[in-house]
Amino acid sequence: MAKITYIEFNGTEHTVGVKPGMSVMEGAVRNNIPGIDADCGGACACATCHVYVEPDWQGAVGGRNDMEESMLDFAENVKDNSRLSCQIKVTEALDGLVVRMPESQH
Ligand code: FES
Repeated sequence: MAKITYIEFNGTEHTVGVKPGMSVMEGAVRNNIPGIDADCGGACACATCHVYVEPDWQGAVGGRNDMEESMLDFAENVKDNSRLSCQIKVTEALDGLVVRMPESQH
């Protein structure tokens, strides 16, 4: 299990264990963490699973893929550390990861 901390826009933190192989988005949805809508269910087709990766973790998480890059055009307030959480696969190396949710997914 990799421990992941999701921080809502209002500052509320949720730390949960997520099984390697699942996505960061699935980790949130399965644990009923608010702030990630994931309307398309992880197909990289909605941009409602937008998160900000804490700067310390950007290297371990890696960069965006091409499809993700184009979907992020539909998200609000995209920053350098923006990712679509359905495109981040959880591994043991991400144990301790911290992501923050945007104010809104729409
Ligand atoms: S869940 Fe739709 S793009 Fe990630």
